[in-house]
Amino acid sequence: MITVTGSINLDIVATGPTLPRPGETVTNARLARHPGGKGANQALAAQRLGADVRLIGAVGADDMAEEALKLLQAGGVDLSGVQHINGETTGVALIAVSADGENLIVVCPGANRALRPADVEDADITHMMGVLEIPADTLLAAANRATGFVSLNLAPAMSVPDALLARASLLCVNETEAAFYGDALHAAGALVAISLGGEGAALYRNGTEIAREAAPQVQVVDTVGAGDTFTAALTVALIEGMSEEAALRFAVTAGALACTRAGAQPSLPKRAEVDSLFGTR
Ligand code: RIB
Repeated sequence: MITVTGSINLDIVATGPTLPRPGETVTNARLARHPGGKGANQALAAQRLGADVRLIGAVGADDMAEEALKLLQAGGVDLSGVQHINGETTGVALIAVSADGENLIVVCPGANRALRPADVEDADITHMMGVLEIPADTLLAAANRATGFVSLNLAPAMSVPDALLARASLLCVNETEAAFYGDALHAAGALVAISLGGEGAALYRNGTEIAREAAPQVQVVDTVGAGDTFTAALTVALIEGMSEEAALRFAVTAGALACTRAGAQPSLPKRAEVDSLFGTR
């Protein structure tokens, strides 16, 4: 069982020809709503890849909660650790996607910010995944309960306690986040994965590169959720006992597949799809 301690959002997505620059208005976009949130995306991604997953998180007591949770429910993720908090709104991400699949995201955390350390203090956690769209002290409390593999996606980038980094078996970041954290990423001895967008990803141990994998060529529709898929796939593969090189290839393959469809959770690939493309590489 993997316990994900993380965020749950409803994604409101405008897909248009280009992304707006500051002060610019872009028109002719199409509107869509999808379940999202980095924690929820990683939970569903891991479940679709064959893991047994429980999600600890929070939504508001509002109409958006059901919509945000519906694909997790349909996918069989254990939602017994999800609270519905009165007086809070469900987290919302406002997302713009361009014709070439790039995105801009603004998150309104709502109930995600209300998840407290006390909410995880009695949790039985073996393996865990966590993201920084919930308070860092709650993530640390969950990591301190974990007895197995601890995978932390340090997104969005922000200052975190050294104690949190010290609990990690695996830290996953993109290039922007890697630049923000700098050497601190490698100081605590965790495996560090840096995703490189269309270039694939690299894996480091104690600051030394130990594996690098190029991304397979795919038709990119929407990159939202690709990083979450990469993190979940790498975590699942390492927990399954794949070698670090094979796990990185598996994760890059899964992340690429997530770019071929629109939306965060609707785009998350199933295990058979990943195995099939992985087998051709
Ligand atoms: O990583 C993608 C996710 O980031 C989106 O689903 C959005 O909700 C934001 O949290």
